[in-house]
Amino acid sequence: MVCLIAIMMTPAFAFISSRDDASGVHADLKANGLLITELKPMPYGDKIAFPVRKGDLELNFESVENENPHSKLSQLLDDPPLKWEILGDVVVFPEDSKLGDGNLASVAEALGCTRVAIQAEIDSGIMRKSNLELIHGDNGWVVHKENFVDYEFDITKVMFSSGNVTERRRMGEFDMSGETIVDAYCGIGYYTIPMLARSNAAHVHACEINPDSITALQKGLARNGVSHRCTIYHGDNRDTFQNLWGIADRVILGLIPSSQATWASAIKCLKPAGGIIHVHMNVEENEIEEWIEKTLEWFSTVSGKDATASHFEKVKWYCPHIRHVVLDIEIS
Ligand SMILES: C[S@@+](CC[C@H](N)C(=O)[O-])C[C@H]1O[C@@H](n2cnc3c(N)ncnc32)[C@H](O)[C@@H]1O
Repeated sequence: MVCLIAIMMTPAFAFISSRDDASGVHADLKANGLLITELKPMPYGDKIAFPVRKGDLELNFESVENENPHSKLSQLLDDPPLKWEILGDVVVFPEDSKLGDGNLASVAEALGCTRVAIQAEIDSGIMRKSNLELIHGDNGWVVHKENFVDYEFDITKVMFSSGNVTERRRMGEFDMSGETIVDAYCGIGYYTIPMLARSNAAHVHACEINPDSITALQKGLARNGVSHRCTIYHGDNRDTFQNLWGIADRVILGLIPSSQATWASAIKCLKPAGGIIHVHMNVEENEIEEWIEKTLEWFSTVSGKDATASHFEKVKWYCPHIRHVVLDIEIS
């Protein structure tokens, strides 16, 4: 996201100090109540101009509250990145960012963080391991707060897709009281945690193949006080599903580009009376209507029941022309 904020300038009297004396002058002006703290000191030739309440020289100063993160970064870097992501207290810049040999502690601080990382493309393997490199800070564990829940994970080991924020929020806004849920690709608890902590799910059976994600999930469940309502199944869900036939009111199939490998198993996990399946998929934008129709037809044929769409969600653009979508299918 690129953030552009018009910089507002305010006229005020200026006290000019040499750079060497600047910190002492700043302290004195402040102690004497002369400094205007709402305005920013600025360079004035080879000196520093402080905004003050009385004087002879008048200059235009930038307001402190108008100092946006981009302008803070441009004071530290010659070619500052235009975008970044914040996970817990780590700022993550794109792979091609030019951070130079600058002071990374100041770069982190300018964005309200303490650590800095560089992102590369997320690994395309099934475990979606992180390709992120921490370049300032000594370990990758973060507590990331989002939509009133806490996720805890090692950013150097597992992915966190900021683009799926709306879907994580949606999974925390259902009334799932009394429901038993199977989360087939739970990762670090992207949906498991909001379903338990916010949607009041009675129990989530969470399947995951990556041990690093499971460690993170266990920490996240504990942090949100919901561990006792979650059972974790470590391994390939095609094996662990055997324990889960006929028990679920709802099944989450949160895998892209496709979760089709577990569609038939998801039907088997539902209670005999049916339930809801949330099917994630990457779909070409101009093929969405056709995909919905064919998917509903498939679920109806294989389950031998009615399959209707209770909701269709466009989560994010995965790449040009292709969307990550979720189809909520009611099987009854
Ligand atoms: C993309 S991540 C989850 C993303 C999350 N649902 C979201 O949308 O933000 C998918 C997770 O499924 C796990 N996974 C992939 N194939 C699996 C399988 N056959 N059995 C269990 N877990 C699997 C991966 O390790 C990964 O943590």
